[in-house]
Amino acid sequence: MPVQDAITIDPSTCTRCALCAEVCPNRVLVRDGPGGTIAARDNAGLCMKCGQCMAICPTRSIAVEGLSYEKDFFDLPGGGPDEAAFHGLIRTRRAVRNFKGGPVPKELLEKVVEAISFAPPSFPPPKYQIVVVQNAGLIRKALPNMIRLYESLVKMMKNPVIRFFIKREVGSKRFRTMQSHLLPLLESRLPALKAGTEDTLTRNAPAMILFLADRDGEDIGPDIHIAAAFGMLAAHSMGLGGSIMDIIPPAIDRDPELRKMFSIPDGQEVAAALILGYPRYKYQRGIRRKIRGVHWL
Ligand SMILES: Cc1cc2nc3c(=O)[nH]c(=O)nc-3n(C[C@H](O)[C@H](O)[C@H](O)COP(=O)(O)O)c2cc1C
Ligand code: SF4
Ligand code: SF4
Repeated sequence: MPVQDAITIDPSTCTRCALCAEVCPNRVLVRDGPGGTIAARDNAGLCMKCGQCMAICPTRSIAVEGLSYEKDFFDLPGGGPDEAAFHGLIRTRRAVRNFKGGPVPKELLEKVVEAISFAPPSFPPPKYQIVVVQNAGLIRKALPNMIRLYESLVKMMKNPVIRFFIKREVGSKRFRTMQSHLLPLLESRLPALKAGTEDTLTRNAPAMILFLADRDGEDIGPDIHIAAAFGMLAAHSMGLGGSIMDIIPPAIDRDPELRKMFSIPDGQEVAAALILGYPRYKYQRGIRRKIRGVHWL
């Protein structure tokens, strides 16, 4: 039963349960009348290869072009996730900016990458690439360029004409964040950064994951930050610590030397950075934060 060329259903095993149609987010598969059979719709082009249909089919009867039961899926264990374990993880996580010396083993970084691959993309497949920096020396080497870039940004922001163009380039929301947080912080920390007495940019992290997006591609900023959060939680679950660091990407992105140093291909922008390492300190307590408004309707 070819639904469309790209999606096929095996009539010899299909039970017509219509579960695939129920979960298909874009109505590419639909119930066909009360008999529960599946019909093709004109909108096969809307298939985003999310794999929901293949994941739910009890008889593995549906095939979406480009997805394979053998290569892309795995059987799920019975039972649900462990709520207590999840809460243990999220309640104990903090942004870690102080690291013990020593590298992060590659096996752990690979597990962080694997966790990132489980993050939901807004429209599959994930459209970002990542660069895993295992070499702490490389991160240290990048620091002087980052400092120079931020020093010149602070100077430029003092000039109203240049400020106008920066605002136009980054957009008013980003500009407000820069004025409220980034600039005061830079003005305060640049002297110590320049003196080499502290590293409030890369935090002496031994490892870092950079997320890259096509410069002329779709808006995948949210996808990338969700993915980075998955990586951060995975790291925490393995005794590592770290933080998303929005201060790092623009510095690498705009500096040709740093782009080369971190092997950023032309046409790619650095959209997020996650620093990682073994935490130097242990926190004694967690923090409960209040959401600004919770409105129940
Ligand atoms: C999108 C995002 C960007 C961040 N960028 C930075 C950064 O550039 N520098 C930094 O020190 N921390 C950065 N952080 C860490 C936050 O400051 C930190 O999560 C926040 O202070 C709350 O602390 P907690 O994570 O320990 O709960 C970032 C966090 C997020 C979610
Ligand atoms: S979920 Fe599988 S068995 Fe059920 S209707 Fe779809 S293809 Fe057939
Ligand atoms: S892969 Fe996703 S969008 Fe495509 S047919 Fe299956 S459920 Fe629908």
